[in-house]
Amino acid sequence: MHRLGGFWGSLSFGFILFLNAVFITIPGALSWSKEGHTMTCQIAQALLEPQASEAVSQLLPEYVEGDLSALCVWPDQIRHWYKYRWTSPLHFIDTPDDSCSFTYSRDCHDQHGVKDMCVAGAVKNFTSQLLHYREGTADRRYNMTEALLFLSHFMGDIHQPMHVGFTTDEGGNSIDLRWFRHKSNLHHVWDREIILTALADYYDKDVSLLLKDIERNYTDGTWSDDVSSWQQCNDISECVNSWAKESIQIACKWGYNGVKSGETLADDYFNSRMPYVMKRIAQGGIRLAMILNQVWDREIILTALADYYDKDVSLLLKDIERNYTDVRFNISLILTFYTTNSFLRLNTTLWAKESIQIACKWGYNGVKSGETLADDYFNSRMPYVMKRIAQGGIRLAMILNQVFGGSEEGFATAT
Ligand SMILES: *[C@@H]1O[C@H](CO)[C@@H](O)[C@H](O)[C@H]1NC(C)=O
Ligand SMILES: *[C@@H]1O[C@H](CO)[C@@H](O)[C@H](O)[C@H]1NC(C)=O
Ligand SMILES: *[C@@H]1O[C@H](CO)[C@@H](O)[C@H](O)[C@H]1NC(C)=O
Ligand SMILES: *[C@@H]1O[C@H](CO)[C@@H](O)[C@H](O)[C@H]1NC(C)=O
Ligand SMILES: *[C@@H]1O[C@H](CO)[C@@H](O)[C@H](O)[C@H]1NC(C)=O
Ligand SMILES: *[C@@H]1O[C@H](CO)[C@@H](O)[C@H](O)[C@H]1NC(C)=O
Repeated sequence: MHRLGGFWGSLSFGFILFLNAVFITIPGALSWSKEGHTMTCQIAQALLEPQASEAVSQLLPEYVEGDLSALCVWPDQIRHWYKYRWTSPLHFIDTPDDSCSFTYSRDCHDQHGVKDMCVAGAVKNFTSQLLHYREGTADRRYNMTEALLFLSHFMGDIHQPMHVGFTTDEGGNSIDLRWFRHKSNLHHVWDREIILTALADYYDKDVSLLLKDIERNYTDGTWSDDVSSWQQCNDISECVNSWAKESIQIACKWGYNGVKSGETLADDYFNSRMPYVMKRIAQGGIRLAMILNQVWDREIILTALADYYDKDVSLLLKDIERNYTDVRFNISLILTFYTTNSFLRLNTTLWAKESIQIACKWGYNGVKSGETLADDYFNSRMPYVMKRIAQGGIRLAMILNQVFGGSEEGFATAT
């Protein structure tokens, strides 16, 4: 599978936003079943880049032999233990009944109103813990193995539509009904029943066959064109919010819609909802891989920060700004020849060509899988990384200035 996350992805989590600010100023539930969580984690692990993959293996206890999915249900197993009672509200979000929307500041809290104690807050929390760990600034109170397992589990939960459900019915838990012939509830239908029925009807009860089918559907099947948009993420807070929104919207349209307590759900419901369940499992896995790849894919920038800038991002930004002041003037000069209407003539082809040329000449060139890259590579490549950061920021400023200001005014702001 193609690399996920990527260069610009690796700059996210505020870095790019921070950079842009330099250049521009413009105005109760259980959980996905064991099967669901296992598949989400297997999908993710298969998509890890070597660095992230190595780090994940190191964080896992030896007895699972490198298999992340073996521990992805762990957070469900311990949530009622005294020591881990604080994790209980982290599996879900209660939104106002029938609002069909999610707003972090309004909805992300536990039943006592403690902020951030919901699945969206948890994904941010554990991503941030892993980032600090990666950067060598981890808080020793936090256990990184646990952070990895929590993140992996909660990425599954935030994608389970009924985990972002209504408050009164506890995400469908209190809507009792029948699933074909046995008793169940609406929440559980989405956690597990649909997956089990799919396994029994189509996959010979073999989870690995179902997993293969899901993988086929995102590599060259129904979802293959959507995968890159699923992974788009420049700011973890925004991404988490939009994933939770997707969930409550599916919950409203496909989970709750037309379902009454006491009724029997069967073939019609199963056939029309199964595609959503499968898609959410795929999205959870692909996005988990995206996060983990980003956490462990900032090698060059972090090395530069540590070696030359005293780990101070603002010093690095000042240096970039100083070195590329000329470029900024030049670019805005060139652009004054464009009118607002010629905005679409921005030569994005050129930008992409620049990237692949640098990738060929300086990225891939002479690099073999398995080898060690160190000082030579670092020293010769760092200037390109810095230059591309500057160009990205400058060009983004230029676009935003064009969008929000008339052309000339806009350029004036950019410079
Ligand atoms: C973040 O994790 C720490 C422990 O690792 C925990 O004490 C805190 O409550 C968590 N907060 C959220 C929002 O997950
Ligand atoms: C981290 O957590 C895991 C799982 O709870 C535990 O087995 C391990 O001993 C912990 N590590 C440390 C250093 O506390
Ligand atoms: C994969 O895609 C096919 C064709 O759209 C569909 O019939 C099948 O149910 C999908 N499988 C899963 C697990 O989503
Ligand atoms: C800025 O230019 C100086 C001198 O050419 C160079 O040593 C430094 O690495 C550059 N900094 C960045 C961030 O490109
Ligand atoms: C910007 O333009 C000036 C004058 O045309 C030129 O001397 C300079 O090299 C340019 N700077 C860059 C970084 O291209
Ligand atoms: C954009 O750049 C490419 C590559 O340099 C060039 O071939 C093409 O003519 C340019 N297009 C426009 C509209 O300037």
